[in-house]
Amino acid sequence: MGRVGERLFFFPMQQFSSLPGPIGVFDSGYGGLTILSKIREALPQYDYVYLGDNARAPYGTRSFEIVYEFTRQAVCRLFAMGCPLVILACNTASAKALRSIQQHDLPRLDATRRVLGVIRPTVESIGAVTHSRHVGVLATAGTIKSESYPLEIHKLFPDITVYGQACPLWVPLVENNEALGDGADYFVRKYIGELLHKDDRIDTVILGCTHYPLLLPKIQRYMPAGIRVVAQGELVAGSLKDYLRRHPEMDVRCTRGGTCTYYTTEAEEKFSESASTFLNEAVEVHRVTLE
Ligand code: DGL
Repeated sequence: MGRVGERLFFFPMQQFSSLPGPIGVFDSGYGGLTILSKIREALPQYDYVYLGDNARAPYGTRSFEIVYEFTRQAVCRLFAMGCPLVILACNTASAKALRSIQQHDLPRLDATRRVLGVIRPTVESIGAVTHSRHVGVLATAGTIKSESYPLEIHKLFPDITVYGQACPLWVPLVENNEALGDGADYFVRKYIGELLHKDDRIDTVILGCTHYPLLLPKIQRYMPAGIRVVAQGELVAGSLKDYLRRHPEMDVRCTRGGTCTYYTTEAEEKFSESASTFLNEAVEVHRVTLE
């Protein structure tokens, strides 16, 4: 049984195979592919399973309860597919579901498996990047509202001032293949302006959403000179590499074949078509239902 907010969820006990398996990478949709590609660049030897809950994306505007429930279902599915380790490549899921899954679900589901998020690896490097000690975070409304970035940053760097700005129209721009279109300029400039208006001493801005690296050319255009933009793909990949080095007992449970299998909760054709925006290559994908 797990508790989120006022509601209780009952989970059946499950048995998962203890054989080695692929590393699972989960996102609400396509955005996690930006993280996956950096992970695969850094750690090409492992097998991966990518699961996108495209049928229920976006998560960014959903409640804590729903994001937790959907993410828990995805983690269970990836465990059932044999993944000993799952990366929540989605900031919203990392912000709203990771802690509950680690604390309440893992001990019941399988205490030997691990679920890791993307927020901690992203903030770990921030202390060495900012000189002014004023940092901005651009993310979905859900991630900003969760306060996860300021909380995680203050655990490591209590002296840093953090301001967040929700960018609710950036994910739809990317999803609709308009990231580099003329219409994107208005909303890129708007949210950057709103963030910097809150604190003009910000010298470092974290892109706290999987989709935002695809807006990077526009973000760089409207970000004032001298402000460092931090994308998280390479940071997450580096952190995973370090994690596997420090945890040989997990490393031996991750199979090495260099493969990647893609799963989506939407139609296969739709995923393959849009995934090419993120990956620049055709992918073979299978449909799954989460419940
Ligand atoms: N993957 C989500 C994130 O990183 C963005 C898309 C969504 O809202 O589902 O926050």
